[in-house]
Amino acid sequence: MPEGHPPSIVRRLPPSEARNQWAGGARHSLPKAYRSIDLVVMGVGVMIGAGIFSLAGRQAATMAGPGVILSFMIAGITSLLVAFCFAELSSALPAAGSAYTFAYVIFGEVWAWIVGWALALELLLATAVVSRVWSLYASQLLTDLGVRLPAPLAAVTGQAEGLDLFTLLILVLLTALVALGARMGLRALRIIVIAKLLAIGAVIAVGVTHFDQRNLAAIPAPSAQTMAATDVLHSSLLGLVSGQTGAFGWFGIFAASAVITFAYIGFDVVATAAEEAENAPVSVPKGIIRSLIVTTVIYIAVALVMVGMTSYQMIDGKAPLAAAFRDAGDGFMVHIINLGAVLGLTTVVLVLLVGLTRVMFSMARDGLVPRRLAKLNKSYHSPARVTLLIGGLAILLAEFVPVLTLEPLVVIGTLFVFISVAAGVIRMRRTMPDLPRGFRVPLSPAVPIASIAACLWLLVNLQIDTWLYFAAWMALGVLVYLLYGRRNSALAGIRRPEDASNGDARGRHRR
Ligand code: ALA
Repeated sequence: MPEGHPPSIVRRLPPSEARNQWAGGARHSLPKAYRSIDLVVMGVGVMIGAGIFSLAGRQAATMAGPGVILSFMIAGITSLLVAFCFAELSSALPAAGSAYTFAYVIFGEVWAWIVGWALALELLLATAVVSRVWSLYASQLLTDLGVRLPAPLAAVTGQAEGLDLFTLLILVLLTALVALGARMGLRALRIIVIAKLLAIGAVIAVGVTHFDQRNLAAIPAPSAQTMAATDVLHSSLLGLVSGQTGAFGWFGIFAASAVITFAYIGFDVVATAAEEAENAPVSVPKGIIRSLIVTTVIYIAVALVMVGMTSYQMIDGKAPLAAAFRDAGDGFMVHIINLGAVLGLTTVVLVLLVGLTRVMFSMARDGLVPRRLAKLNKSYHSPARVTLLIGGLAILLAEFVPVLTLEPLVVIGTLFVFISVAAGVIRMRRTMPDLPRGFRVPLSPAVPIASIAACLWLLVNLQIDTWLYFAAWMALGVLVYLLYGRRNSALAGIRRPEDASNGDARGRHRR
């Protein structure tokens, strides 16, 4: 680092810079595209996906039994607590980087990079996972409709692992759509989200007619594997230390809650649209909280009918929600679910890609990754370069890594980011009490503290392998920062660290 520049450890993005981005300031900025209702659509579009169409059934069959309903409630309450925190910070700092930018302003560059790196893991891996599940449902749809692909093609479609053509297809199409600009993606998004909600509505309405409460009464006892440690806290910590997993009983319900947090991923992605939202300080908090409430209610209703209509043991396989209806003998609903999943998972991948491009765009704008990536395409005013890069990485990941076993890794990255945001609310109330906020977390600091505690609880319910993978990913991130971001940060040009905290960006290297 050049002599006289502030060490990276004390660099903080001035709030005026973060806010300037949405006010159309001097830096590269994104055009306005979203109204308040669009943000709700976006939230519902990105949340309702593989979590309910795939994970819920798998967790019911293998971990929680009918108790999966409670798992959805636990993960939903945790998410709602965290959503309040996201709402406050995005109303004060409505910038495309979301949690990354919040951390940059509140905690400084090093922590911001770490949060951005965790966000990249969350969003990139989730994109790969959901596009795989899309392929499973798309091939199931064709099979159920009686369409037979030629054998060589069938061998590379709808596969849980290995090369997969449908996964490639969806990622290429959606990457191209995102590269063409948010407005264009938005039109498609509205239509598909409505179709997805109609399919989910049918699942609930028809599922209720198959409901048999005896299926709920059969909550399975803890498996022999966890009988020795049925106490929740003890067995959770034991699980963390020993890597032992538990199935069924309360331990299974908590373990499933942690993994099911995957289903709620997406309300945080709404915050990445802040820079492109009209009247962001008001519309973004509304978009985050309303979409999460709608989604939570839908999830609990779907989980209830899913485990109420058939024995939890039958809800498994490649397309579990459809399997529940197949077991109940309702072939027509199987088609509706397959179609709903194909449409629904499309919007999830679309919005995850949009969210990740916005985070990477912000990191590039700040110089922590190559600044070339922050260039907007002249015709479409979208960050096309970074979109193509992310699309390419998602394809590599989805095609060459067995991502369907890695949902917990997405969750650990997400919970880490959630904790940073909740802690950010507490700290920003103290360090920047006068910064205008369009939304304030009620009962602060109790709600942010409860958010942190709930996230920590879910974290200790994840397996040790997941923690180790996450530690390796974060160690790689620190290395990348030391080798690149620390030297190339736009803030490396500020002469006095106190300038940064005072919101004075004089001396900053402009692009
Ligand atoms: N919440 C999103 C899903 O369940 C990521 O697919």
